[in-house]
Amino acid sequence: MLGRGETVSILITGGAGFIGSHLTKRLVKEGFDITVIDSFHNYYSVKQKKDQLEEAKSSGAFEFYELDLLDEGRLNKWFQEKRFKTVIHLAAIPGVPASIADPHLYIDYDIKATVNLLRAAGESGVSHFVFASSSSVYGNASGIAKASKEEDAAGSVVSPYAAAKWGAESFCKAYSSLYGFDLTVLRFFTVYGPWVRPDMAIPIFINKLMRKEKLYLFNEHSARDYTYIDDITEGIFLSLFGHRGERTYNLGSGTPVTLNTLTDALAHHFPHLEKEYTSRRKGDVERTWADIGKASADLGYKPKFSIQEGLERTVAWATAYFH
Ligand SMILES: NC(=O)c1ccc[n+]([C@@H]2O[C@H](COP(=O)([O-])OP(=O)(O)OC[C@H]3O[C@@H](n4cnc5c(N)ncnc54)[C@H](O)[C@@H]3O)[C@@H](O)[C@H]2O)c1
Repeated sequence: MLGRGETVSILITGGAGFIGSHLTKRLVKEGFDITVIDSFHNYYSVKQKKDQLEEAKSSGAFEFYELDLLDEGRLNKWFQEKRFKTVIHLAAIPGVPASIADPHLYIDYDIKATVNLLRAAGESGVSHFVFASSSSVYGNASGIAKASKEEDAAGSVVSPYAAAKWGAESFCKAYSSLYGFDLTVLRFFTVYGPWVRPDMAIPIFINKLMRKEKLYLFNEHSARDYTYIDDITEGIFLSLFGHRGERTYNLGSGTPVTLNTLTDALAHHFPHLEKEYTSRRKGDVERTWADIGKASADLGYKPKFSIQEGLERTVAWATAYFH
């Protein structure tokens, strides 16, 4: 892993995505030599991905390659030429409902693509691999009465997306052991902010409210540990430094927000907000709640954004972008 002040070549996969484009911006500003790959998958608007990538370019120079991790031959050849020190693997197809409709997609894009990348990284001598996992690996096992600690995950997942992330975590550990590179698994908790993925609850609500439509909400008792994008990119940045070996960290806000609290915060921006609760959605966990003690103690991770502050920035972006 890196020492403070050391700047090395870093590959970010999925760098045209929501989290990837923010991370690219952040790491370019820190002075790292950044290369980004993305296949512009059409899971959501390709135009939004291209706009995100353009926005990232405003922070400074980085290399971009349109490359699909499923193209193993091209990937291996390319890796041998490039010789990265660190890989931050964000590329995936995200989202729970789509994983129920098309589970095979997740086996390809979230597991097979990860294995291709792990092998290419190992063969080319990468020294640190950072994997973007998800709070969904906790299933319903915890998070209701208490916050989820890293060791609470036991594979008892409730959606194909979560199964793919849990499986991919396991492949990361296998390849870290086979090739000897350092491994950091980061479990992100519901990330939002400007350029948020359009399939997520917050942008869906904001778009409906901008059109003055009523909100139909799935589960009155649900709560999410919504995490503002800048806190996530800070956590990823911090994970590049420190001791060697294999580590897993939650990156969340540490504060679960109920649907009522979320809609109250949105009503501040959209006073006409009307809502109605409907039945529960299959595959969704009831609550997520991150115990961030380990990330805080080891990495110095301290989320800064309240839901009110984060929403204010997200609403400002959405009203300008979707105007
Ligand atoms: N956003 C969240 O709340 C959240 C929460 C937990 C975990 N995560 C994880 O974080 C990562 C980034 O999430 P995001 O919200 O930015 O999603 P995103 O869909 O915006 O970004 C993922 C990017 O990966 C690219 N991609 C997908 N398959 C690829 C392939 N085979 N080759 C090259 N590029 C490919 C896509 O085109 C996309 O631009 C994902 O792994 C996701 O599962 C996200």
